[in-house]
Amino acid sequence: MERTYEKEVISMVKIVRYFLLFFISNLIYSESIESGKTVIANESMVVTRHYLASKVGNEVLLAGGNAIDASVAISFALSVVLPQASPIGGGGFMVIHEAETGENFTIDYREMAPEKATEDMFVVNGEVDRSLALESYLSSGVPGTVYGLYLAHQKFGKLPWKELIKPAIKLAIDGFDITPTLAKSINTYKDKLSKTDDGKDIFFRNGEPLMAGDLLVQKDLGETLTLISKKGPAGFYKGSTAQKIQRDMRLNGGLIGLKDLRNYKAKYREPIEFDYKDLSIVTMAPPSSGGLILGLMFNMLEHIDLNTSNPHDIENIHKIAEIMQIAFSIRSVYMADSDFYDVPSNQFLNKKKAELLSRRINRDQSSTAEDFDPETFKFKENTTHYSVADKFGNIVSTTTTLNTAFGSGIVIKDTGILMNNEMDDFSAAPNQPNYFGLLGAYANRIEPNKRPLSSMTPTIVFHKDKPYMVTGAQGGSRIITAVLQVILNYYEFKLSAEEAIYLPRYHHQWQPEMLMFESFDEELKEELLNKGYSLYNRPATYDFSNGITSSIMFEGDKLIGVSDNRSDDFLSIGTNKNE
Ligand code: DON
Repeated sequence: MERTYEKEVISMVKIVRYFLLFFISNLIYSESIESGKTVIANESMVVTRHYLASKVGNEVLLAGGNAIDASVAISFALSVVLPQASPIGGGGFMVIHEAETGENFTIDYREMAPEKATEDMFVVNGEVDRSLALESYLSSGVPGTVYGLYLAHQKFGKLPWKELIKPAIKLAIDGFDITPTLAKSINTYKDKLSKTDDGKDIFFRNGEPLMAGDLLVQKDLGETLTLISKKGPAGFYKGSTAQKIQRDMRLNGGLIGLKDLRNYKAKYREPIEFDYKDLSIVTMAPPSSGGLILGLMFNMLEHIDLNTSNPHDIENIHKIAEIMQIAFSIRSVYMADSDFYDVPSNQFLNKKKAELLSRRINRDQSSTAEDFDPETFKFKENTTHYSVADKFGNIVSTTTTLNTAFGSGIVIKDTGILMNNEMDDFSAAPNQPNYFGLLGAYANRIEPNKRPLSSMTPTIVFHKDKPYMVTGAQGGSRIITAVLQVILNYYEFKLSAEEAIYLPRYHHQWQPEMLMFESFDEELKEELLNKGYSLYNRPATYDFSNGITSSIMFEGDKLIGVSDNRSDDFLSIGTNKNE
């Protein structure tokens, strides 16, 4: 009896304390927090693809954390609330601008092929077996996320590592409401997600996929995250988590073993930095192809006159599409993990070379198109980008992924870890397209301990040394062209921050020979057809993933956070200085 009374008193005290805290924090912050799809503030900004992760990031900033602390907390939170895109079974890239020194850093935590991987591991009877590459225990590289976040935190973090993982643990154990966007994804990928018993337990109830409004509880993931919070990377790459991964892999024909996990390292890479007119662009080096391709395209653009009064002027689209084709054709041959292949980075960033290449643009007609089946390029996969700017002037731009939605769909038994299918970003065989229709050759072949070539392009842009824009996207090969267009829309075409993101985009990747577009008017389509383009419509919706961005623009002392209109669940949260 007494016990019950004691309990009641304790919970009353807790409730009163909670309300006091809530009241005090509201007194301090109520006037200063803005949240929505597009938000303007003057102190800090967080833009992520999930409102719960944005809230976690903003709370870390309010607690005195910096942009890197917020990013660590956001990544772990996304690993729970965005299982289709960014679980700890994946990898990513982070670009950091440190205010104190003015230096820029990039961290590569891309997945790595296991030691037993072989060049032709996905070739069966002379053909690439797509399901082996995309939906099997062989599809995964050794995950990099936990190591990468730890590396970032060790160098830049202010708040304790453990505190930053707490919100994710809570979301995993207590659960959170499934949004319509997540419910749609789970339903679309129900076959993939029901391949393992653990997947069935997590994403289904009574044999039916969970629906919008249902609670998604991930107890095992909560426990794995708790281990990581206590032990750092050892909670993932060593001990019981590593043993569970190795055991599940061994029992099901996978290759990742204890040694692979123990040997995994995230790395600092020299950022790719180049100028375009009076902008300085800081972005990701190989194993991302994004930074160098972006540099090459901007360097070619310096030799092109654009009609700056209309982004969708036919001549603009034609010239930019030609530039995209040249860049992507070069990508297919000269790019791979620079630890394995000597990527000619200087050539990509050489202004003279770009000038010569720009002369090869066909001024009148598109390159001739061959027949193709556009249906094979329709997809609904997932990656995610987030951008953070703190009140100290630090900036983080991160893109992270499992590759396609829910990765391989495989949940490692008793860990809640959903595994990536990043091995498909290697070229499984010469001139065989991967999931994104991208071609690759020798350089990007599968080799043990190598990282697959990526298109993820987290980017920070400076204008006369001042932060100008933070951006990046999901969308496979379309990430690079989305980043290009967002920068051009804002800088060259002088669109507002929101219009620069919302404006319908287009994409050409050399092969297949088609110009993908979100929305063009009939007259423009007619003109492009007359120029010899094959057109393929990919509407600006989440299903088509044409580079879904999370961006921050800096205008004077204002920070403008813009969530992409192509998807729901996004939230930008900004804080204002208390006057
Ligand atoms: O690293 C890459 O380029 C791909 N794995 C990214 C996949 C992606 O963006 C899918 N999302 N929409």
